[in-house]
Amino acid sequence: MTTGVIVPAAGSGVRLGEPVPKAFVDLDGRSILEVCLAGIAATDLIDQVVVVVPAELCDHVARAAPGATVVVGGVERTDSVRAGLAALRDDVDVVLVHDAARPLTPVSVFRRVVDAVRAGSPAVIPGIPVVDTLKSVTSSADASLEQVDGTVDRDGVRAVQTPQGFDRTALVRAYAEAGDIATDDAGLAERAGIPVHVVAGDPLALKITTPWDLRIARSVLADPAG
Ligand code: C5P
Repeated sequence: MTTGVIVPAAGSGVRLGEPVPKAFVDLDGRSILEVCLAGIAATDLIDQVVVVVPAELCDHVARAAPGATVVVGGVERTDSVRAGLAALRDDVDVVLVHDAARPLTPVSVFRRVVDAVRAGSPAVIPGIPVVDTLKSVTSSADASLEQVDGTVDRDGVRAVQTPQGFDRTALVRAYAEAGDIATDDAGLAERAGIPVHVVAGDPLALKITTPWDLRIARSVLADPAG
């Protein structure tokens, strides 16, 4: 089987509050995207890497990552992944979608996802148990004081990460039928009636979204054994 990975690295990442798009923020002398691509290379599982970037950074990434296919992203993450899908080689039959914003994802997570897809699951996602108690709420006129509706059974939920892995035909169908945007690719597969399976994720696959996440990622890289 031939495995490709689409790396969405476009979007502005306004929640991080940095002057450059999120994937280009410095972590350890390397950008978030560079650390992510090094992690992908270390897996030895991937035959094609498609990086999806902001238009103004396309030439820069093409020079910095000569082995990768580089394409321009869209307004929403879904648009960016769709652009990546269109750039996959014909011989790729297993597709991973992996957020550039999860640069510390261990090789073991990639392996679990790829193994499960190669074993026959059309859609596989890494997930971790949720440690906090979860409440459903209704917002009120006073945004600082929400009304609790109930408690969600946390045993029955998972916090979902990337890489998300797919049989290529299933992912293409999910995107063809997608009428809407989704926060992850498996969400589109679910809506298309494609079974989605969960394998064990890892806390290190955290998504860098806020300045606090950036601090954690920099600390881990500075002291991996910590
Ligand atoms: O914004 P968020 O953290 O959910 O983005 C997840 C990933 O999707 C990031 O790696 C980001 O670079 C990418 N993205 C994209 N195109 C967009 C928005 C986000 O490639 N329009």
